[in-house]
Amino acid sequence: MSNHLLNLNDLGTEGIRELLHLTDRFVEVSQRPIPKVPALRGRTIAMIFFEDSTRTWMSFDLAAQRLSADVLNFPTHTSSLSKGETLQDTVETIRALGVDALVIRHSSSGLPGDIAEAVGDTISVINAGDGLNAHPTQGLLDAYTLCQHFNGGAGAEASLAGVHIGIVGDIKHSRVARSDVAAYSSIGARITLIAPTSLQPLDVDDWPVEVSDDLDAVLPELDVVGLLRIQKERINDDSLISVDDYIERYGMTEVRAKTMRSEVVVTHPGPVNRGVEIADAVLDKRPNVLVQQQVTNGVAVRMAVLFRLLGSGIEID
Ligand code: CP
Repeated sequence: MSNHLLNLNDLGTEGIRELLHLTDRFVEVSQRPIPKVPALRGRTIAMIFFEDSTRTWMSFDLAAQRLSADVLNFPTHTSSLSKGETLQDTVETIRALGVDALVIRHSSSGLPGDIAEAVGDTISVINAGDGLNAHPTQGLLDAYTLCQHFNGGAGAEASLAGVHIGIVGDIKHSRVARSDVAAYSSIGARITLIAPTSLQPLDVDDWPVEVSDDLDAVLPELDVVGLLRIQKERINDDSLISVDDYIERYGMTEVRAKTMRSEVVVTHPGPVNRGVEIADAVLDKRPNVLVQQQVTNGVAVRMAVLFRLLGSGIEID
């Protein structure tokens, strides 16, 4: 594994399994009365979020703190970028402060990769979501959450073989869908993308998935329903269908949820648009809705990523 995490496709199955297995260790740490280890004491991690975030930002920050690292939160709205400093010079400035890793989210697909190329192996660059390209830690935490649900954890040979996962909604504009497919497929899940044709990616024939535009037809075959938000902020073409049409065909309404077996798992990366992707009553009351478990596991997954990149030769405890 390089000293960056940009895209799960770069890791391959072994790299993904290694991080999922390491997450088992940090789930155990997270359950201790004092969920903190000294592993990254003296390391500094900068958080640079050019797009809004609740889960990814807070869980990376918490993960770094639980590893005893120092955290610098870059103030994107009040930084000297507003005075004309380039992003490249800003990154150089942050590097000169003695930072060991940059966790970066940006609306531009590929930008974390460009920064990684510029900094080489002097510091680690971790992609916290870039445009519609990738959200690798979300893919890892979603895969980990399903491994935990079906197998009690990841183990050394994490596997979702025999699990049929439907990913429902705005696949075309979703970096989460791209990273989920990379993670799920690498450990053996069967995946069906379910979306209107206008929200399916143009290159979907190259993805290791089946495709349908009919949720009700596929639903009885699924073990997992992974719901996605319609990413209006990234839609600049004519792919949007009306909200009412979307709810009728793809929303996890109370009526639709009643047609599913009770053991079928529902996931959502958040943020949720209540009443669109999923009805309040399904989100709040149905068993096997793993949305909060995904958030909880996000901390352990991000501890695993930070430790793997910055903790070479160091014991966890
Ligand atoms: N799932 C996710 O990336 O959520 P945030 O935008 O809140 O970080």
